[in-house]
Amino acid sequence: MKTYIVGNWKLNFTVGEASIYLHKLLKAVPNYRDLEIVAAPSTIALQPLSLQIDRHKMKLAAQNAFYRDYGAFTGETSFSQLRGVVDYCIIGHSERRYIFREDDKMIAKKMAAAIRNKITPILCIGETESERAFGETADVIRDQLIGGLSEVSDDDIEKVIVAYEPVWAISSTKAAKMATPDEIAEVTKLIREVLAEVYGTKVAENIPILFGGSVKPTNAGAYLMVPGVNGLLIGGSSLILSEFTDIIETAKRVKA
Ligand code: PGA
Repeated sequence: MKTYIVGNWKLNFTVGEASIYLHKLLKAVPNYRDLEIVAAPSTIALQPLSLQIDRHKMKLAAQNAFYRDYGAFTGETSFSQLRGVVDYCIIGHSERRYIFREDDKMIAKKMAAAIRNKITPILCIGETESERAFGETADVIRDQLIGGLSEVSDDDIEKVIVAYEPVWAISSTKAAKMATPDEIAEVTKLIREVLAEVYGTKVAENIPILFGGSVKPTNAGAYLMVPGVNGLLIGGSSLILSEFTDIIETAKRVKA
């Protein structure tokens, strides 16, 4: 399986800044066969960057999109509009869930819309700090996973990527903590168990699971060595060229 290094730029960079950053990134990143390097800029930058990117080296992801293809949905961008522009879309990020009130039902529709439009969905799941404190982690993971995948058909299930992002570890969360490799290993195992229960062991083994939450050059190696982790979803560190390329180098070393 490939190793995925996904940079979530969130709401940062003008189109011009994003283009300059991508230019530098493309220069710095060699063509690694087993690494899938992905950048997720703001929606407005996707079209120009899609003309600039070298798809042998890197791919683009959207950070969000709407599940209906067209209609009276002011302010939205559809997966069908992004078809051919991006290869991936992040879906159900905790900032979408908690700031924009997206629930599992909406997330499930977005997963189906992505697949329908030949875009690989990266389904983000993860418990909050209080859910973990109350011992609800396993229930939250199970609900978000089964809920988020509920509109994906069995034939399409191997087209999805899952990202475990504990909300308490995301750097923008107040008093964010760094997850330990053991904590990540436990939840990664649980995700595969739930996938195996619902879709069978073969599917469970084939779905890539990424980890995200305060990933830095200093912890990327340890996180990539966690059994069952196939890549990283990186926020803050993906905005700093030297840090992001350092993580890519680490991935190459660890997963080679
Ligand atoms: P972070 O963000 O790496 O800044 O913690 C990760 C994410 O929100 O996807």
